Amino acid sequence: MYLKHLTWRETEQYLQQKQSIIMPIGSHEQHGPNGMIGTDIICPVRVAEDLSQETGILIGPSIEVGMAQHHLGFAGSITVRPTTLILIIEDYVKSLAKHGFTHFFFLNGHGGNIATVKAAFAEIHAEASLGRAPVQQPELELVLHNWYQGRRVTEMSNRYFPGIEGSHATPSEISLTFHAYPEHTKPAVPMEPRVARGGSFGSAVDYRRKFPDGRIGSDPSGATAKIGAELCQAAVTDALDALRYREFL
Ligand code: NI
Repeated sequence: MYLKHLTWRETEQYLQQKQSIIMPIGSHEQHGPNGMIGTDIICPVRVAEDLSQETGILIGPSIEVGMAQHHLGFAGSITVRPTTLILIIEDYVKSLAKHGFTHFFFLNGHGGNIATVKAAFAEIHAEASLGRAPVQQPELELVLHNWYQGRRVTEMSNRYFPGIEGSHATPSEISLTFHAYPEHTKPAVPMEPRVARGGSFGSAVDYRRKFPDGRIGSDPSGATAKIGAELCQAAVTDALDALRYREFL
């Protein structure tokens, strides 16, 4: 159930029952030889849809483009700077808080967003702590949940893709995109080397030099929609645990 599909009166009615909202956040960036540019937003949106079905919690507007400066050496990648992303998150949260939303579940698909999302949360909380938040703003619960790091998802990735999951263009996230968009499933592509090297990076130039086909530490050639469907269910169960733990349910 998406906020964008409700009327304002329906939104008021929703707020009388619930004050929670799921905010999918991801990225538009290269995902290696067989991964879609939108992998990091496609995954959390797909998980959010099942999670919303299970809980009745609304899905808010996706943040489709994230902090991905290091991927700009590859065609199709887009970044917003950390400062821009902080402002986007702040403005979305404060707009929704004005209407009575108090519990925000940021369902994230991109590791590069983590530091910035946490900084945005700190900015919002700091305003309240310093006494600068609007008087009527209630205490806000801001949660960041990375779908790919849940306990069940991690166990499943280790079982299906031992030693080849890596940290970027992983077989797990690519499987989930094939489940979400079977019509866009990519044909098998030879990976050279079969398992990409690991390591860290700085700028986009540095990244492209170290990781020429875009992967880090992974072999995503075994990604399938079938595994993606199982991972999606595991991710929903992991997210339900997080929602319960943070008292959204
Ligand atoms: Ni990714």
